[in-house]
Amino acid sequence: MAQEARCVWQARALLGEGPLWSPRQDAVYFVDIRGSRILRHGLSDGAQAGWELDDAACWLVESADGDGFIAGLRSRRVVRLRLEPGQVVVGGEIARIEPDMPGNRLNDGKVDRDGRLWVGSMDDAEEGPAGSFYRIDHDGSVTRVDQGYTVANGPALSPDGRTIYHTDSAARTVYAFDIGADGGLSGKRVHIRFTEADGYPDGMTCDAEGGLWIAHWDGARVSRFRPDGTLDRAIALPVSRVTSCVFAGPDLDRMFITTAAHGRDGELLAGALFECDPGVRGLPPCGFGPATR
Ligand code: BGC
Ligand code: CA
Repeated sequence: MAQEARCVWQARALLGEGPLWSPRQDAVYFVDIRGSRILRHGLSDGAQAGWELDDAACWLVESADGDGFIAGLRSRRVVRLRLEPGQVVVGGEIARIEPDMPGNRLNDGKVDRDGRLWVGSMDDAEEGPAGSFYRIDHDGSVTRVDQGYTVANGPALSPDGRTIYHTDSAARTVYAFDIGADGGLSGKRVHIRFTEADGYPDGMTCDAEGGLWIAHWDGARVSRFRPDGTLDRAIALPVSRVTSCVFAGPDLDRMFITTAAHGRDGELLAGALFECDPGVRGLPPCGFGPATR
């Protein structure tokens, strides 16, 4: 591994997750699920800020109309949310997922280029296959598209928007699905399997050439896989629990990586936000809701 990522913020996130690039705010946001915080790293000014929540955000995306964020909360509610100086303002509820499954929480969520949300749930205790994979349409309707996940993770969309990748970390398996015109999924197949030495596949993102970047939980790296699922290259991190990655910057040529400090007290930089040079461009982020452009 030729390259190593560098620490840009020792935020000591217990479970840093779900990095999001906001061109409008010129910042990378990420959540600390176990620490119940939302964190912001400004790109041009390097300004860093944090907000605390009562009901932890498990992921955050922007609204397509530019009016704040949409968050998936630990209580499995999907809500509108605004970050104001010193406070989080939780607005209207968009959807409620698994109201009858208090042992579950939401995990990663992503928006596709049609402005629909794709969200996984998981057993908070990480013991049984109680998690599912959902699509949330603009009107807030929730459709279960797959099930049987112990730790649902990292949805990622291919550049043409026709393939979605989704992971069961506990099973060390990344699946691929075809997305139909109506948003239905078909053709579920195993795309990549991690070995024990690789750790567990966690958050993912696609680059503009269709490469799939995967964070290795307990594997101390992010790897790029070619569209056919073969390994291209890896970037090393000085911490073991690497959780997710995102392309950022006006040219989408920078990559930021989140990590977790939970269970890794002895690692100096565990829970930090890292940056690396991915050598390839990413795809622009999409907001939830009908396109306004
Ligand atoms: C989950 C963690 C889990 C990890 C590795 C993360 O996305 O939020 O709870 O331990 O993946 O499976
Ligand atoms: Ca994750």
